[in-house]
Amino acid sequence: MHLPPPPQVPQRSLTTPIYRTAAFAFSSSAEYASVLADGTSGFSYSRIDNPTVEAFCSAVASLEGVNLAYQVSAQAFASGMAAISTVFWAFCRAGTRVVAPTALYGGTYSFLRNVAANFGVHTEFVDMTDLAQVHAALQPGTSIVYTETLANPTVAVADLAALSRLAHEAGALLVVDSTLAPPVICRPLEHGADLVLHSATKYFGGHSDVTGGVVTGHPELIAAIRRTRIDTGGSLGPDDSYLLRRGLETLPLRVRRQSATAQMFAAALARHPAVRTVYYPGLADHPGHEIARRQFDAGPEGTRFGAIVTVAPYGGREAGQAFADRLRLASVATSLGGTHTKVSHVASTTHRQLDDAALAAGGIDPASVRFSIGLEDGEDLLADAMAALDSLGRR
Ligand SMILES: Cc1ncc(COP(=O)(O)O)c(C=O)c1O
Repeated sequence: MHLPPPPQVPQRSLTTPIYRTAAFAFSSSAEYASVLADGTSGFSYSRIDNPTVEAFCSAVASLEGVNLAYQVSAQAFASGMAAISTVFWAFCRAGTRVVAPTALYGGTYSFLRNVAANFGVHTEFVDMTDLAQVHAALQPGTSIVYTETLANPTVAVADLAALSRLAHEAGALLVVDSTLAPPVICRPLEHGADLVLHSATKYFGGHSDVTGGVVTGHPELIAAIRRTRIDTGGSLGPDDSYLLRRGLETLPLRVRRQSATAQMFAAALARHPAVRTVYYPGLADHPGHEIARRQFDAGPEGTRFGAIVTVAPYGGREAGQAFADRLRLASVATSLGGTHTKVSHVASTTHRQLDDAALAAGGIDPASVRFSIGLEDGEDLLADAMAALDSLGRR
């Protein structure tokens, strides 16, 4: 059976076409060889490159690099963890040292402790908000200072400009996971970061229906990451790239609206008598408030601090779990950054490996419930949270 090839279309598609193909055909063996050797631009095999994936990458690069004098590029991955691990594979060797935060996404912590360590990469975990600690941890052989713009669940704010100065003085790269602070509110490359990465699963996709990761930075660094991605194989697929590229079209609208709701929600809950602590960088008493004001993009005031709010009622672990379980509108669910508000009781889920002493060392109240604010009506979300808190009473 011989089916005809797909038609060539003279008009451009208004949306991103999905190139759902693993392989590409060439006019000659010479062209095939040249594309494979990167001599001729084009596509050969979708683990290597794919036009739909490239459409997503160039859109992310344009968002992260909008105010930069140099051109940035991006590489996409099948998940945030594939992006993160590939960055370490690309720039670490046996004997390399990494400085990373104690308050770190669990998957990254586990990768550094359980995988990178087996290959001779040593990680020093420090409090990234304490610059003296970071400085003391930097040693000859440190190749990466790694941080998160906003840390989970205390929403601690990293001072990216100061960290980039320290990293560069020590000859290291500053790599920033900015998943909780997407480019609408923070573009780490503008603050001196060398590479910025995201779990695109979160705000980029925005609808909790796709996993992906992306790394952006100077083309020379990104070329090294691409070579490593081709060898390790965590490439993003075309269908997922389509969804992620589409998600970017509404990113500013979603993130501004979610942040505005978060600001109102955090301020109101901080006044509830059953609440011991609200962690949100938009509140004036949050330790990272001033850095966030400086570092996060001016938009309308109150829409620049992100949409993660952590609320700790009085009463310890049990009260935290009861609070989460009594919410009706917000769902107890994994992940963050989607259109639906999600909650997790931190001590029994995302930070379950930490006992009360370890939680205290990280500044985390065992009752903490992390909210990823969605697009529901803010007043409805607030009424739901207030009713759940009222039912707890003051313990
Ligand atoms: C801050 C942060 N970085 C990275 C990741 C990993 O991303 P993924 O789940 O897409 O692999 C997550 C996932 O929750 C995250 O919250």
